[in-house]
Amino acid sequence: MWEASAPSNIALIKYMGKSAEGKNVGVNPSLSLTLPHLRSQVLIQEHAQSDDTWEALDGKMTLSETGKEKFLKHFSFLKEKFGLTNKKFIIRSKNDFPSDCGIASSASSFAALTTCAAQAFGDITGQKISLEEQALLSRYGSGSSCRSFSEGFVEWDGNNSITPLPSTHADLFHQVYIVSSSVKTVSSSQAHQRVATSSLMPGRTERVQLRMNAVKNILKAQKLDWENLYSLVWAEFWDMHALFETSQPPFGYFLPNSLKLIQQARDLWETDGDGPIVTMDAGPNVHFLWRKDQLVSANFFANRNSDIRCFSNMEMP
Ligand code: DP6
Repeated sequence: MWEASAPSNIALIKYMGKSAEGKNVGVNPSLSLTLPHLRSQVLIQEHAQSDDTWEALDGKMTLSETGKEKFLKHFSFLKEKFGLTNKKFIIRSKNDFPSDCGIASSASSFAALTTCAAQAFGDITGQKISLEEQALLSRYGSGSSCRSFSEGFVEWDGNNSITPLPSTHADLFHQVYIVSSSVKTVSSSQAHQRVATSSLMPGRTERVQLRMNAVKNILKAQKLDWENLYSLVWAEFWDMHALFETSQPPFGYFLPNSLKLIQQARDLWETDGDGPIVTMDAGPNVHFLWRKDQLVSANFFANRNSDIRCFSNMEMP
């Protein structure tokens, strides 16, 4: 029996749109921060049945049929890579955060599946593969999962290059507010396809590249330019959501509480000249990053929104 866990990550520069369907090649590079407090666990065991099967590790987690299929398909792909198609396994998985809460779990679950399979298949066949190779393989299961193999900030060029970005600024508080835990009507995999029809897609790569260069310069510098980082990450998530709303047909994820939280952060910036980094993925939940010296503000913000479920790496009031 083999067991592994992997963290989630939040993109500051978003992977949105694919140039090669089936291979998860992003049309543009992306950059994320790894979230070690939001993890998935996977357990793999060989069994005598005629197929690979999946079940919830905690008996509670549910996966849609499409979700299960995607997970098992990736497992088959990994088995093929190791020449192990004749063996059958049971895969059990769970998220450390409640699976009904609507936090994107594909990054952590595919990273955990790949890590666990690499250990299992490495032991069975004697073929050990590096973390870099595991990240590359994980990308085929779910693009964003390839950024979950290193701590801190990670850049993915959209294809075969995944690079940890050394930075002294990665030690941040993270909060994600669960505005809705309902299943999304448009999954992020569908969003990747639909943005190809957006009138704002031409020029997206150029816009991303400019932001990417600027964000990397900020993360590299000794003195943190927090305000500029906030502006760049802000522009980036609105850019992605504008792609959604200008697709044919348009779709979107904002709910009243998403806007309420975003507005509060904007107010903070306007009144104090300081505030959190704000971002959203393909869903209504809102992520905030705070510097460690902003603890008081971060707690105040959490208190003010204590009616909205929140996951964080800080002690919540
Ligand atoms: C909006 O990695 O979930 O979170 O490759 O189809 O599994 P697939 O897509 P996925 O896309 C994530 C999109 C995003 C932005 C990001 O994490 O970069």
